[in-house]
Amino acid sequence: MQDKSSRKEATPASEWARDPAPIRVGARTVRFLAPGSPPPPPSVAIVGPLEDIPVEGPVGVQPEFAREAGGRALVRVRCPKGTHFYGCGEAAGGLRRNSRVAVLWNTDSFGYDLQTPSLYQSHPWVLALRDDGTAFGVLFDTTRRCEILLEDHVQAATEGAAPAVYVIEADSPGGVMAELALLIGTTPLPPRWALGFHQCRYSYGAEHELLGIAEDFRARWIPCDTLWLDIDYADGARTFTIDEHRFPDAEKMIAQLRLRGFRTAWILDPGVKIDAEYPAYSEGLEHGHFVMRPDGTPFEGDVWPGRCAFPDFLNAGARRWWGDLTARFVRIGADGVWNDMNEPSVFDGPGRSIPLDCTHRADPDLGGPDTHARYHNAYGMQMARATFEGLLRERPGRRPFVLSRSNYLGGHRYACCWTGDSASTWEHLSWTIPMMLNLGLSAQPFAGCDIGGFAENADAELFARWMGIGALLPFARAHSDKSTNRHEPWSFGPACEHACRLALERRYRLLPYYYTLFREAEQSGVPPMRPLFFADPADPALRDADDSFLLGRDVLVRASAAPDNKCRSAMPSGLWRRFEPAAAIDANLPQLFLRPGAILPLGPIMQHTDERPLDPITLIVNLDSTGRAEGSLFEDAGEGFAYREGEYLLSRYAAERDNNHVRVWVESAEGRLPRPLRVAEIVVLLDGERVARATGIGGDMITVLVGGPNQMPIGLD
Ligand code: NOJ
Repeated sequence: MQDKSSRKEATPASEWARDPAPIRVGARTVRFLAPGSPPPPPSVAIVGPLEDIPVEGPVGVQPEFAREAGGRALVRVRCPKGTHFYGCGEAAGGLRRNSRVAVLWNTDSFGYDLQTPSLYQSHPWVLALRDDGTAFGVLFDTTRRCEILLEDHVQAATEGAAPAVYVIEADSPGGVMAELALLIGTTPLPPRWALGFHQCRYSYGAEHELLGIAEDFRARWIPCDTLWLDIDYADGARTFTIDEHRFPDAEKMIAQLRLRGFRTAWILDPGVKIDAEYPAYSEGLEHGHFVMRPDGTPFEGDVWPGRCAFPDFLNAGARRWWGDLTARFVRIGADGVWNDMNEPSVFDGPGRSIPLDCTHRADPDLGGPDTHARYHNAYGMQMARATFEGLLRERPGRRPFVLSRSNYLGGHRYACCWTGDSASTWEHLSWTIPMMLNLGLSAQPFAGCDIGGFAENADAELFARWMGIGALLPFARAHSDKSTNRHEPWSFGPACEHACRLALERRYRLLPYYYTLFREAEQSGVPPMRPLFFADPADPALRDADDSFLLGRDVLVRASAAPDNKCRSAMPSGLWRRFEPAAAIDANLPQLFLRPGAILPLGPIMQHTDERPLDPITLIVNLDSTGRAEGSLFEDAGEGFAYREGEYLLSRYAAERDNNHVRVWVESAEGRLPRPLRVAEIVVLLDGERVARATGIGGDMITVLVGGPNQMPIGLD
C-alpha cells in the first residue's frame, strides 16, 4: 500500500454510469454490474448461496462504473464526508487507510515498508465506517490486478472486464463482517493446539537441534505447542523429501517430540525441482499438472531448489495430486503444513513471479482456462486449498492446520496466515497490530507475524515487547531468518526470558477464551481480534487506535510498539478494569482490561495444550454499573468435528452483586458434553487494581465477599 500522493488517480475516458438493475443477493447485500455487462463469471471468493432478487426502489450506496483511457475498468463509490476506511488486506502502516492506495498483486516482499505497493495476499474489499457508526463494505470481485484508492471516495481500477461489485450495508462494522461471511464463508475452528505458541527458525536444520529446542522450552518452563521445520529439512529443497543425514528418522523424532507435548509443522513449497529422478517432477510432468507457457510447455523458473516447474493449483486434478502428495508426506506424523513462496515467488520471473501470459487450466467453477494475469492472485489460495483438502482426505477426523503466506479473499476457509518477511525494527513492530486488525477486517482473522521480526537482529527490549504483543495475536509464532542472531525466548538474557515466559503464560491462561472466540468466529464471521472502534463505532476517538485492540467483546489490550513504551490509544467509555492472568506483572507486556459487565474464563498455566484439562477454571468478573456481568465458554475435544454434531459444552455464566457479596453461577448450558466436576476460582475486579477471590465447584453458585480484608492487588497468583 502506498500514500495516495505517490500514484495518480485514474481518469475515466467514459461517463460514470450506474447499474440500472442491481440484484439483492443477501439480506443486506446488493450486487452491481457495469451497465451492459454479461452475467458475472464464477467467483473464486464467493461461496454463497446467493439470493437473486431485483432491487426495487432506491439503494443506499451505489457504485458507478467507467473505463479509463488506458482500458482499465473503473469503479467509484462515493462516500459521505468523514468516512473512515479499513480492510484491503495486508499492508504496512496504520489502521485507518484513508489517503492510501492498495495495489492488489500478490508479491514476495522481503523487508517491505510503507511504500511497498503490494504484499503477499490480496483482499479486494473495503470496510467503510461512517461518522454515526454505521458501516458498509465493498467487494470488488476480481482476482486480476486491482488498484484501490481510498480518498474521500473509494475508487478501484481493475484490468479486464469490469468486476461485479457487492455492497453490504449494516448498522455496525461487526454487522458488515457477519454479512460478508454469508458470502465468502468463515474460518473453520482450528485444532486447539494451533492456538498455542509456535516456535520456528530458518532453519532448525538437524534432528538434534530441534530436540534441543524442545528440551529448552520444557527445562525453562516456557509454554510451547509446535516446532516448525523450514526448508533445510528437505533434500536439496525438494518438496516432499527429507534429508536423511540431518533427519535420519523423522517419524521417531516426531514421536519423541509428541511425548514431550510438541507438534510439528513442515514447510512444503510449490516450486517442484526439475529433476528427472524426482517423482514429484516426473509425475507432474507426465500428468500435465504444471502451469504452461503459451506454447504448451511447462513454465520454468528459479526458486530455492534451483530450476522449478509450478503446479497449476487452479486445476482440480493438479490440486488432487498435490493434496495426495501432501497426505502421503504427513504420514510421518506431521501435524501442520506450511505453504510458503506461493505468490508464487519466482526469483528470475518478471515481477518475481510467473509471466502473465502463462496459462492455467482453471476449473469451470473458478472461471475456466485463462492466463496467469487473471489467476495470479488466486494461486496461493488454491495451493492452500489443495493442502487443506489433502489433509482432510488423509485424516478425516482431524482439523487441517495450514499456514499460507499467499492468499486471496475467501482463503481463510483453508489457511491461517502470517505477515511474511518483516524486519526486527520498532517500525515493523508498530505495523503489527494494524496489519492484524485489517487482515481480520478483510476476513482473514487467523493471522500472526514473525514474533521478533524475520530479518535483522532484535535486541532484548524489542524482542520482549514483540513477544508481549505477539503472544496475544490470533496466531502466535516466533520466527527468524538464517543470518540473524538466535530469536528464541531465551536468546536475550534472563530478563527478556522472564517477560517471554509471562507473555506465554498469559496466552495459555487465555486459551479457553481464544477458543470460544474462534468458535464464535466460525459461526458469525466476526474476527476474534478487533479494532477498538468495535467497542463503540460512533466514537471518533477510537478509529485510529494503532496500539490497542480488542479480543472478542470483552478483553482490551493496551500495548506500546514504541521505544518509549507508552500506549497512545484512547480508551472506550465505561469502567474497563485491569486484570493480569500471568503470575507477575512485567512492564514490557501490554496491559489487559476487562469490559464492564464481562466474565472472562481462564485456564490454568500449562506448558502445552494437551498437558491437562481445564481444571481449575478461573472466572474473572468485572461488574457493570448495575452490578451484573455475564460471559461464555465453549469447550469440546479440541480436535475433530464431533462438536458439529453436538459434542460440546457452551456454558453461559452470570454474576450479580448484592451488597458486599457477588454471586456467580452457570446460567445455562448447551451441547451434549457433561459438565465436568472441577474447581472454579472466581476473581472479582475491584477499584484501585484490587481483586476479591473465592473458590468453589464449577456449576455451583459461588459467592465472593467483595468488601473487607480479602482484597488483594491484581497479578498475584
Ligand atoms: C520465505 C519465508 O517468508 C520465510 O518465513 C522462510 O523462512 C523462508 N522463505 C525460507 O523457507
